[in-house]
Amino acid sequence: MEAKILSGRDIASEIRLGLKNDVEKLKGNGVQPGLAVIIVGDEPASRIYVNNKKKACDEIGIRSFEYALPAETSEEEIIELIKTLNCDKNIHGILVQLPLPPHINDEKVLLTIDPDKDVDAFHPVNVGKIMIGNYRFLPCTPAGVIEMIHRTGIDLKGSECVVVGRSNIVGKPMAMLLLHEHATVTVCHSRTKDLKTVCKRADVLVVAVGKPKLIKADFIKPGAVVIDVGTNRMENGKLCGDVDFEEAKGVASYITPVPGGVGPMTIAMLMKNTVKAAEI
Ligand code: GUN
Repeated sequence: MEAKILSGRDIASEIRLGLKNDVEKLKGNGVQPGLAVIIVGDEPASRIYVNNKKKACDEIGIRSFEYALPAETSEEEIIELIKTLNCDKNIHGILVQLPLPPHINDEKVLLTIDPDKDVDAFHPVNVGKIMIGNYRFLPCTPAGVIEMIHRTGIDLKGSECVVVGRSNIVGKPMAMLLLHEHATVTVCHSRTKDLKTVCKRADVLVVAVGKPKLIKADFIKPGAVVIDVGTNRMENGKLCGDVDFEEAKGVASYITPVPGGVGPMTIAMLMKNTVKAAEI
């Protein structure tokens, strides 16, 4: 039997609808959530992400403030801007679109964001809170993935979850959230000796490495839930995931498509964090 498609597009749209109601209530209390988005340079992929984030804000009733800075902007200028936004009462969330140009130290910039406005949950204080399971903001992509897994009805308690990729944005926080769900979690990466064998153990396989079609049918346990976080641009201009979708859908029970899978969920979770920041 073919895998069921987990449409992030549909689930995200449902979540945004709920958030729109929450925003109406906040506005009734005299608060309109505001999100500041800082983008430095003109990387095309970042521009698309930022536009999508702004579109979601408009739909929900969140005010978005874009700060598009030239690639030559200095680290000090970005830090000064963040300090100003930290004190701005109309701004509840601050997001710095990554990657930043090479002359800028990401870590130093992220450290400047007020942890109470850190809707990406990239500040070390929030990363630490995720580690100990006491969080105010969930990291957007992993939170979106958890939400999608819950929709399959699978019981994560005691299940074998394999995360492929160990980035600070996805792989590491993903492993933490799955651990908080009482799963048995294995994290794989480029040095993993027998990736195929480890992946094949997974009841839930989450892949976030940025390697087109890395995961083939024979990496997947029959009936597994497969979540593909990869978004790779192919030579023909089309997007594809880290999972070979055509192969995997013949083996998995549920699978996320690319595009229309995890991507829209990440944005929905960012909106959720921004509303939460305004409520706080
Ligand atoms: N670049 C790639 N993914 C993300 C994300 O989730 N947030 C930000 N700020 N930058 C990114």
